[in-house]
Amino acid sequence: SGSERVYRIGFSQCTGGDEWRKTLLHDMKRELAFHPNYTLLYEDAANNTARQIRQVEALANQNIDLLIISPNESAPFTKVVEAIFRKGIPVILLDRKVNSELYNAYIGGDNVEIGRMAAEFVGKYLNGKGNVSEIWGLRSSSPAQERHKGFREELKKYPGIQVTSEIDGKWERDTARNVLNTSPDKFKNTNLIFAHNDVMAIGAYEVAKRNGLTDKLEFIGIDALPGPSAGMQAVADGTLKASFLYPTGGEEAIETAARILEGKAFKREQILTSIQVDAKNIRGLKAQSDKLLSQQADIEKQSQIIEQLTQTYSFQQNTLYVTLFS
Ligand code: FRU
Repeated sequence: SGSERVYRIGFSQCTGGDEWRKTLLHDMKRELAFHPNYTLLYEDAANNTARQIRQVEALANQNIDLLIISPNESAPFTKVVEAIFRKGIPVILLDRKVNSELYNAYIGGDNVEIGRMAAEFVGKYLNGKGNVSEIWGLRSSSPAQERHKGFREELKKYPGIQVTSEIDGKWERDTARNVLNTSPDKFKNTNLIFAHNDVMAIGAYEVAKRNGLTDKLEFIGIDALPGPSAGMQAVADGTLKASFLYPTGGEEAIETAARILEGKAFKREQILTSIQVDAKNIRGLKAQSDKLLSQQADIEKQSQIIEQLTQTYSFQQNTLYVTLFS
């Protein structure tokens, strides 16, 4: 109804270029459809911290009622996010954190726990013995730090397993691919590569395959996105031995924004559940997520049809009005 208050939500993404973040934005938009009185002001920093800081400051000066942010790195954003919070603009941190308690809500997976689950999988998969390599996400971002922490802590339970190399993949498939390309021989004695996300794991797999290393080398990642070329499919194909579901929280972010804006109670820490995806459950999970994707596509098609009908209807009404009163 036209009398509803209009709200402006700013959303600052560290990058919008990968599948996970595209899905995140899509999940938000689906939920936003229930709030026609909300406007989304969206900024994509393309992995550039300085640019993202400028974008966030610009958003804060555009009369936003709330800020959702997934900061590229933690420390450099602490001050700017605190300043926005102090101005009275509610802040929702999504997936990545800052080094401050001054925010209204955090929504994201339990990255320490996901790292632990990965180590437990590795420990069991390698029967407690072997050499592992770890491909890091961006070291200055909180999910990379937390995934590493959980992984290393849990891996201590398997003294026969060594982490023989650490690689900087910065969350990007090409970065991981390039690093591996320069010295593939380094991985001759590696049994398993754990990457902080699936795109890096898949990139590493491609290089290893080209260098004839995949007979003795296994790969695991994190995200387990559905769709034809993402982590779920890679587990189904056996390219990845495991992945861990990392929900985007896009829908929850908009729900929480709505609760904050409408003065309702909300949870400050919203930890989204993850599960291990491996050969044992992939078939069922994939069938379910494929079904979900096709249902979502149907719903989007339906709402387009409704939109068209509404336009036709209002056009007919206008024509009727013009015919009657001119
Ligand atoms: C996407 C991404 C995901 C990862 C998350 C961590 O940009 O790299 O693959 O799980 O960000 O913040």
